[in-house]
Amino acid sequence: MSCFQPTKVLMCPPTYFKVNYEINPWMDVQNFVDQDLASLQWQNLYNQISCFCPDIKTIEPHPDLPDLVFIDAGFLYKNIFIPSNFRFPERQPESVIFADWFASNGYEIKKIEKEFYFEGHGDTLWVDDKTVYCGHGFRSHPDSYKHIQNILSDEAILDIRLIKLTDPRFYHLDTCFCPINKDTALVFADAIDVDSLKKIKTELDLIEVRSEDALNFACNSLVFGQHIIMPFASRWLQEQLKSRGFHVHIVEVSEFIKAGGACKCLCMPL
Ligand code: ARG
Repeated sequence: MSCFQPTKVLMCPPTYFKVNYEINPWMDVQNFVDQDLASLQWQNLYNQISCFCPDIKTIEPHPDLPDLVFIDAGFLYKNIFIPSNFRFPERQPESVIFADWFASNGYEIKKIEKEFYFEGHGDTLWVDDKTVYCGHGFRSHPDSYKHIQNILSDEAILDIRLIKLTDPRFYHLDTCFCPINKDTALVFADAIDVDSLKKIKTELDLIEVRSEDALNFACNSLVFGQHIIMPFASRWLQEQLKSRGFHVHIVEVSEFIKAGGACKCLCMPL
């Protein structure tokens, strides 16, 4: 399976989605989430994804875990699943739920040591079957990736490329960086440490998004071949993508942005 053409994905219905704690600068418990609108937006996203990916699995939502809707489940390499080790206590119980789901769906589970915070799918973005960009700075600990490489040493030598994040509003790598094929990525450069940025510039062709796009989560997008599902894209960004042969599909997810996530966090390729 190519990481840009997933044929199977995992989502979690937003039945219990709300903002009842604050663990990133987007979250404000006073900012009411319209649950009907959230359900509608999630269903629209589901329908749009189903046009490009035939097999959508869902995990059972949990009444005490509103952020379970964001599939920051863990690190998946072939049939091996390493569950996330969430930094904030509010999200820590999600790890067991994801581990159980992956175990009961035939994946082999390997655990990361407790001292390494690691936020899975939110901080790890693949560009090919060996190369993965890994965020750190707010949530995942940089050493967690060495540890993951050790865990997987019998299976693969991964090309792990660290990116340090610098702006707390862009706390997960998938909020400011989005590979769209093996050579090209969207990036919000202001949220990335200068040395990391210098390095990525030598590795990828970058489309540097402006703050209007970044603040509307344009980097939190889902790629299915030449189709890209985005929560927002300015006219300029749409042109950039179209000129590279992409079809842009905008799906509004305003209710989820109140919790600091958008299209890409709501769906994990399997
Ligand atoms: N409220 C969640 C948190 O702060 C949002 C997670 C969004 N996930 C992502 N992959 N960006 O952890």
